Amino acid sequence: MFKPEVYKQRREALKAKVNNGIAVFLGNDESPMNYPANTFHFRQDSTFLYFFGLDLPGLAGVIDFDEGRDILFGNDVEIDDIIWMGPQPSMKDNAAKVAVETTYPFGELAGYIEKARSQGRKIHYLPMYRGETKILFEQLTGIRVGEQAGNVSVDLIKAVVSLRNIKDEYEIAELEKAAAVGYEMHVTAMKMAMPGESERKIAGVIEGIALSRGAMVSFPIILSQNGETLHNHDHSQILQEGRMMITDAGAESLLHYASDFTRTVPVGGKFNQRQRDVYQIVLDANNAATDAIKPGVTYQSIHLLAAGVIASGLKDLGLMKGNVDDAVQNGAHALFFPHGLGHMMGMDVHDMEGLGEDFVGYDDEVKRIQQFGTAYLRLGRKLEKGFVLTNEPGIYFIPALFEMWRKEGKFTDFINYDKVEEYIGFGGIRLEDDILVTETGSKLIGKRIPITIDEIEETMKG
Ligand code: GLY
Ligand code: MN
Ligand code: MN
Repeated sequence: MFKPEVYKQRREALKAKVNNGIAVFLGNDESPMNYPANTFHFRQDSTFLYFFGLDLPGLAGVIDFDEGRDILFGNDVEIDDIIWMGPQPSMKDNAAKVAVETTYPFGELAGYIEKARSQGRKIHYLPMYRGETKILFEQLTGIRVGEQAGNVSVDLIKAVVSLRNIKDEYEIAELEKAAAVGYEMHVTAMKMAMPGESERKIAGVIEGIALSRGAMVSFPIILSQNGETLHNHDHSQILQEGRMMITDAGAESLLHYASDFTRTVPVGGKFNQRQRDVYQIVLDANNAATDAIKPGVTYQSIHLLAAGVIASGLKDLGLMKGNVDDAVQNGAHALFFPHGLGHMMGMDVHDMEGLGEDFVGYDDEVKRIQQFGTAYLRLGRKLEKGFVLTNEPGIYFIPALFEMWRKEGKFTDFINYDKVEEYIGFGGIRLEDDILVTETGSKLIGKRIPITIDEIEETMKG
């Protein structure tokens, strides 16, 4: 954990932004997998971790803005728990680790909320993403599950996002640890990507690296020869010469900060000419984006810059044609690059996505572009020092999208469909790095995983 004062300072910073009512932060509980005592791996709620730090089930935190108090609700363990789980710290001891002075049994939370409501005070709460939490919240407050989403506190969302969006030095140190594990996962995957090897084995080995070094993977591993499926969790194939393997994977540090990297490598370790050509365009887009990252620039403009590099490279290969700027403005590049350049990253790999993508990645100044492809851009706003984000351009040959657009006669001024057809079956390439926005530019988080064609071939040798 961070030092107790870190959590206190975060709560004080929140108090400076929200000035009335109480905020209720429910921690996560154990979640049953197939019967109550056989649970999924426990993962604490990230916002609860941010303000209250305790990585344990059965807790809730209240920040009382009117009284200036922080309270933890939770129960001391009983003898049965000690028999099964071993000795556990008391609630008082736990609270001291995050500089909270007041603790109450969990059963008193409903009464605390009810009293505040009866006094006409606002109950601030954030969007919830787990069914169990929503049911608990209904039991605590009487606010029906179906009515919760419409009554979340936008003031609290905005305040939490404004704090969590800016990473401090302690958080950056955690992100670096997660990146170091990610590096090891990816270099291991590269070295294993030989003909005859199974995707499942590689995915299992690199997940094992995450588990053995940190808390867990930061999201289910994407690893496949069918890289054209953006979030492909199917690992059922055997690697074949001539294909490429995409690996999109990262780890959490022990304090649950994430890494999220993607590399794409030729099975067997040697790029053929076509793989080289397409790969180099994605790498150029990635590098151009990194070079452009600095405070004050919108990530929306950097997304469009990367799209331009991709369109220009595909034009050189004869897959696109016409004026590159017009092609990008019209969204023709999205046949090949149908997703956003990146997203915020922190304790959630898509940081705070559960609070609302537009609150995190957009603001009054920069609105989401609704055009197919760019509409998926999760981060568009002006960059600020302390933002941590991903840079993940890609080129994909998606048979269904290709067929649909060709049939519709879409963008025939910009797309050379006959030429593109020759690439169907190629798969997809994505290259993803994690980046900190600094005072004057940017800094990669972690040592850069081999990424140039020469570096990849060298790493995969032997
Ligand atoms: N890990 C999914 C993504 O890159 O956003
Ligand atoms: Mn990723
Ligand atoms: Mn990502």
